Amino acid sequence: MNQSNIVIFASGSGSNAEVIIRHFATHQKMHVVAVFTNNPQAGVFARAEKLNIPCFVFSNEDFLDGQTLNQKLKNINCSHIVLAGFLRKIPELLIQNFKIVNIHPALLPNYGGRGMYGMKVHEAVLAAGENESGITIHEVNQKYDEGTILFQAKCEVKADDTPNTIAERIHKLEHKHFPEQIEKWILQNDN
Ligand code: GAR
Repeated sequence: MNQSNIVIFASGSGSNAEVIIRHFATHQKMHVVAVFTNNPQAGVFARAEKLNIPCFVFSNEDFLDGQTLNQKLKNINCSHIVLAGFLRKIPELLIQNFKIVNIHPALLPNYGGRGMYGMKVHEAVLAAGENESGITIHEVNQKYDEGTILFQAKCEVKADDTPNTIAERIHKLEHKHFPEQIEKWILQNDN
């Protein structure tokens, strides 16, 4: 198997980015080589620094044209992109050139699509009176949250839940499964 160079895209607190970085820190063949973010104030920036992973901050213009990021990713030999709390639609050029996986904090195809991210998802789940939610790990294609589903795991939604308590439960599920599912996905891609 070739060496895999993972780049994490994140724009939030970065708790998933951190567990992913820690998971691959001792891996023989798979490494997190950089974190890309559009927000230097985001928690993920400080986490990447603390873990000695280079963090590249890109501007809105860089993101929209796609070329700058494409070149930067090529320069660092990126082989796989992981979206871990990244809220923008990925430019077509990157979709064509890289294998990309995303995590979504609900059971897709429900509660997905444009505008559905983070707490908004949990608020919608709660408002609909669902008694379960979960996580979806999926490949990224041109359509928001519609790529091939690789993995799902469920958790209950309790009567006295708030968006915050659901988010906490969902984060636990994400941290438990995302790193190992990324590893599995990379192995499958390489065979
Ligand atoms: C995660 O729950 C992730 O599933 C969600 O953002 C959160 C980021 O948390 N992603 C989306 O909503 C994408 N549509 P983190 O910054 O602590 O990893």
